Amino acid sequence: MEKASQDSAKKTAGYRAADMVRPGMVIGLGTGSTVYYAMERLRERIAQGLACEGIPTSFQTALRAREYGIPLSTLDEYPEIDLAIDGADQVDPELRLIKGRGAAQTREKIVAEAAKTFVIVVDESKMVPFLNAPIPVEVLPFAATPVLLRLKAMGGEPVIREGQKKDGPVITDNGNFIIDCSFYRIDNPEEFERLISCIPGVIENGIFARYTKKTVIIAGSGKGCRILPSSDIVP
Ligand code: A5P
Repeated sequence: MEKASQDSAKKTAGYRAADMVRPGMVIGLGTGSTVYYAMERLRERIAQGLACEGIPTSFQTALRAREYGIPLSTLDEYPEIDLAIDGADQVDPELRLIKGRGAAQTREKIVAEAAKTFVIVVDESKMVPFLNAPIPVEVLPFAATPVLLRLKAMGGEPVIREGQKKDGPVITDNGNFIIDCSFYRIDNPEEFERLISCIPGVIENGIFARYTKKTVIIAGSGKGCRILPSSDIVP
């Protein structure tokens, strides 16, 4: 997909998600380029009088929300929320996801857990027959080497993510490292999500396989939006 068409597909999906927000809702604000289109549309709706509050999943999203005039709150104020809007790197036919290209998957998963409905905005290129992207794993720096060894023993090819315009490892918003671990094809995402999370020192991993029942996918393309699984759980 060309960059311009991909951006336009992301915008279509992001705007559609923002139009699901109802007055008074508290919304999880994910991280990434597609969510930012949803925030762009929320800015317009707030300017027209929509009252809502957002819970950001990263410093970058918090900065963007402040720039856009989206009121922010926290999970301490609202441990349960109506809706979370987020992006994804891959979505399989059963609505299981890989997330974390932007290293925000830990806070994204905490916010997804708190949300009644988890709305994922993607362009069609993210819809795949099976998950095979490297899994981003947030790890305590103290545990990096033992975790690398455990992931290798599971058959993965783990590498510590390096910064750009920063020497050495990427440091997450939570002060940790990211290990990207390739398994090539993940046939049992539920099992992988659980097994990786059980390794001591792992904070969270980027497989999202537990929320399929409350997940709505909005996949944008040049022809508009495809909404999965069906409109009956769309608010
Ligand atoms: C952030 O860490 C990620 O989980 C993003 O939500 C995901 O990578 C999607 O980002 P884009 O919408 O920019 O592709």
